[in-house]
Amino acid sequence: MRNFAKSFAAVAAISALALTSCGREDPGTGNEGGGGGGGEAASGGFEEGAPIGVALPQKTSENWVLAEQLFNDGLTEAGYEPDVQFANGGVSEQQNQINSMITNGVEVLIVGAIDGAQLGSQLQEAADAGITVIAYDRLLTNTENVDYYVAYDNFQVGELQGQALLDGMAEKGEGPYNIELFAGSPDDANAQVFFDGAMSILQPKIDDGTLNVVSGQVEFNQAVTQGWKAENAQRRMDTLLSGNYDSEELHGVLSPNDTLARAILNSVKDAGKDIPVVTGQDSEVESVKSIIAGEQYSTINKDTRDLVEHSITMVEGLAAGEELEVNDEESYDNGVKVVPAYLLEPQIVTKENAAEAYADDPTLSELVK
Ligand code: BGC
Repeated sequence: MRNFAKSFAAVAAISALALTSCGREDPGTGNEGGGGGGGEAASGGFEEGAPIGVALPQKTSENWVLAEQLFNDGLTEAGYEPDVQFANGGVSEQQNQINSMITNGVEVLIVGAIDGAQLGSQLQEAADAGITVIAYDRLLTNTENVDYYVAYDNFQVGELQGQALLDGMAEKGEGPYNIELFAGSPDDANAQVFFDGAMSILQPKIDDGTLNVVSGQVEFNQAVTQGWKAENAQRRMDTLLSGNYDSEELHGVLSPNDTLARAILNSVKDAGKDIPVVTGQDSEVESVKSIIAGEQYSTINKDTRDLVEHSITMVEGLAAGEELEVNDEESYDNGVKVVPAYLLEPQIVTKENAAEAYADDPTLSELVK
């Protein structure tokens, strides 16, 4: 994805320039993101007290639950009227929620999509109403009507996971190593990017024989975990173990997040196998405990407080009619456009650096003392 997207870099830069200058000549149209006519926001800003919609997906990991509270508190404190909704019922519930946010006159829509490709008509309506759309954590795909993307660098998350898997196994002994690969939910655009990032590190080691994916399931489509559901990962791990590891040792498992890592570990324990090196993501409480106990090997620190805080900074910038800062204009091609992104840097966490990594987190710092 990276390489593919990079070829768009020049085009993106030129079109960004074009959009910027056209925005200057005619402040009444289009914002710098150029998406769906969020022109009102970029040119004129909006009043304090304005309603801001935050559409969150299902509670598939702790980061989403944290985000709800942080958005409610942070937006209120900044003087806005937040409308934060989870769509636990699925895609159509999220579509309905976004529809009513638009009807209620939100100035900005912050969307953590269940399925980033299924909100096309809602986002078109948002654009028609002059609402600025920010994709939060997960990219919105196949639409022109997304102005910005704010997230932790997903490709880097994958690279860190791939490297941690190698490091963890090297700490235990010499290769070659037997491994299995898991990916997230295919409707979440992040899942492919995490996987690609990890495979950029692992594929060369598969090719040179250091790593052996015993099941042979090396493709994203074979590794996916529908809905990011723990039970789906656990079931797949059970099947992988019973089909391939009767007499083989399993040394490592690439897991895209903590919820799935714990499911994979449960499966391995149920099968009576030795604990392999298992990666993760999100710094969930139970996984941090597991890391300290020496079971899960690694997680990723993507502090939700920073991501929400930056999102609110973006809202404030839009309210003031400012052009928003982005730091990546090439990586996130959503199929229709390259979405200007502000990416935060993820951090790998193992038992070794946990105390340092979570020093300023009130909950996690207590667990890693
Ligand atoms: C997020 C991850 C999370 C996953 C499941 C992804 O889009 O980036 O942090 O683990 O969703 O909720």
